[in-house]
Formats: sequence, structure tokens, C-alpha cells
Amino acid sequence: MVNVAVLGYGTVGSGVVEIINGGQFLKKAGAEINVKAILDIRKFPGDTYENLVTDNYDNILNDDEISIVVETMGGLKPAYDFTKRALLKGKSVVTSNKELVATHGAELLKIAKDNNISYMFEASVGGGIPIIRPLNNCLAANDITSILGILNGTTNYILTQMFKNGVSFENALSDAQAKGYAEQNPAADIEGHDACRKIAILSSLAYGKHINSNEIKTEGITKISSQDVHYAEAEGYSIKLIGRSKNLGDGVYACVSPVMLPNGHPLSDVEDVFNAILVNGSATGDVMFYGKGAGKLPTASAVVADVIDIVKHKGYGAPYWEDGGVTVAVNPDPVKMYVRATDNGRGASAVSAIFGDVKMLKAETGEVAFITDYMSENEFNECVLKLQGILGQDSIINTITVL
Ligand code: HSE
Repeated sequence: MVNVAVLGYGTVGSGVVEIINGGQFLKKAGAEINVKAILDIRKFPGDTYENLVTDNYDNILNDDEISIVVETMGGLKPAYDFTKRALLKGKSVVTSNKELVATHGAELLKIAKDNNISYMFEASVGGGIPIIRPLNNCLAANDITSILGILNGTTNYILTQMFKNGVSFENALSDAQAKGYAEQNPAADIEGHDACRKIAILSSLAYGKHINSNEIKTEGITKISSQDVHYAEAEGYSIKLIGRSKNLGDGVYACVSPVMLPNGHPLSDVEDVFNAILVNGSATGDVMFYGKGAGKLPTASAVVADVIDIVKHKGYGAPYWEDGGVTVAVNPDPVKMYVRATDNGRGASAVSAIFGDVKMLKAETGEVAFITDYMSENEFNECVLKLQGILGQDSIINTITVL
């Protein structure tokens, strides 16, 4: 019998308990698995597993029968301290906590390695989509050259509800919260920080060195309006929040931002809570992973798969990366940008004088909207400043990268 403790009896934690204690994993894992304790400061009267709940972490830490700790608390405090103490006690840890893996992953992975145990985090990226294990194992024969993904279910759900079904931003967000997709503080979703942590994790694993998520330029979806979507759709694009990174050999480029994707792009029809991740390998070319990126059971499924993996393989071949040494570079590639600005009557002539040959979009009265040709990010920023000089300091309504 393998005994497990679950830290945090929220959306994902309760899904993990439901799956483990409701399932028969003897055949798959080669041993029975049982949730022996649940850590939470709340009480759960009437819950099937209320008797397993404790608010004292030492009860779990000092229980030698518990060999695997599942951390589904989220956030850094006290999850970092609890994880480190469990690993130092020789207990393997499985987590869905993106913030913790993105921030302290290299250190926690090293402690696990030094103690011949595992720190596993399949559920930290892509919810129920297998992506960590495929990157670590199935694509091991490749140099990963780039990663491009819709990595946040909440924002993809909001964008779909707003722009396909006419739901307001606020209602779409409350709906995502009610469905258990959103973070406790949904600013992490809508401002792009959750996607940023996920691209940092994928890139650290793919390129082998810890990438500091604080260095990744990140923009969320709060500036996207129905007008932007209207212009995009008229030109055959959809708008998605995209995390992407590129292996530059001596560094990494990574960013998170809304992106206009042409119809027919593999990610353009990914809707609702679904995530999709396009990985380019030196031998495979593009490989795409698709599935539900958030929610109780999809995420719990990934957590339990890690638990089974530890029971079966004792952590052999677990994902790993080293600390430090990578800087996030400026964008090495030329960009093509959508620009929308207020027009004081001089918009069209100012745009062609400054940006040269652009694709003018059919804009509302009082606005100018266009898509530039490819240029360096620096050159684009300089051109935007010049345009502001003519149309006014506050004239730029939005700029979005076009793929
Ligand atoms: N809030 C996250 C999302 C949960 O919406 O994708 C899954 O990581």
C-alpha cells in the first residue's frame, strides 16, 4: 500500500482525492494507492473524507507511512516551505503549482535528485494535457527549437465567450471562476502571469536551464476589445493569448502576449477552456498537444498520473533542469504588428509616412487601424513614438503581434 497526503483540499486537491480513493490503481501502479491525510485549515463537515483532514502539517511530515505528498495549495507560501520539508524528509512530491515550479523549480528538483526521490509537476502546465512527460521522454531525441502555446484556460474561455457568444468580460470571468478554471486571484490569468509561469516551466525543461519568469515580457488580455476582434476577424485572424519561446543556443527568447493568428493556423480554432501547445523538435518538426487546460478532474488526472509514475518507476527518469545561466533575450525575429489608434484626420498619411507600406484596415470613423510589414521590434517601437508625435500621446489604442 502506498500512502499519499494531499495538501490543499480545493478544486484540484479534492479531484485528486476523488480519483485516487475512488479508483483501482493496483493494476496500473503495481500497488494500491490510498489518500491517508488531507491538509487544510478549513473544516469540511459532511464531506466523505472529512476524517482525513488535519490542519497540522507535522502530522503528515512525521508519518513514515506517507511516502508521497501531493501539493495542490497554489502560491509560494507556505507551499515552498512544505514542499522543501517533505523532500528533505525523503517524501516525493507531486504538484500542480505553476508559481512554485516556475520560481523554485531548479532548487526543488535538485533536492529531490540528491535524495533519490521525485518532484513531479505534469499538472502545472496544460491541465489534463500530457506535456511535461512527452517533452522529457518522448521528445528526448530532439533539440527543442521553439514552443508556442495557448497556456491559460481561463483567458481562452473568456475570449471565446466574449467574441463568439457575446458574453461580457465580467460574466465570462465569473463563469470561469464558477467552473473552477480561474486562479484564486484571477489577475494572474487575465494579466498573463499564469501563462508566463507555464512558458517558463516548459522552456526550462525543454532547454535544460532554469528560466526566470520575472524576465519574460508579459501582457494579458485586458486591453483586447470587441473592436479589435472585429478588425481581426475581417482580415481572417483570431486573437489568442499566446506564450512562446525560442532556443537561441546562447540564450532564450520568451514572451506572453495576445497574438493575431491567421485562420488555418493550428492554434486558431482552439476554444473555451482548451489549451494547445505546439513544440518544434529538431527531428520531429512540429508536434501539437491539445486538451482541457484547467478544471478539477483534468488537472487532477495529471496529478494522479505523476503519483502512479512515482509508484511504478520510483522517480527514475523524472523531469529535471539546472539552475541559472540563461538570460531572456530581446526578440531576435522581425515582427509584424496590428496597430489601432485614434485619428485626428492625419492618420492615414502619417501611417504611410512613418511605417511605409502597410495594410490599412477598414476602420471606424475617428480611428485608424493597420497591419505593418515585418520590422524589428525596436524599429516598430520607434515608429509608434513618431505616430504618437503626430496623432497625440494617448492616440495608440492597442498593438497586437500578428503571426
Ligand atoms: N487558471 C489556470 C488556467 C488553471 O485557467 O489555465 C490551470 O493552470
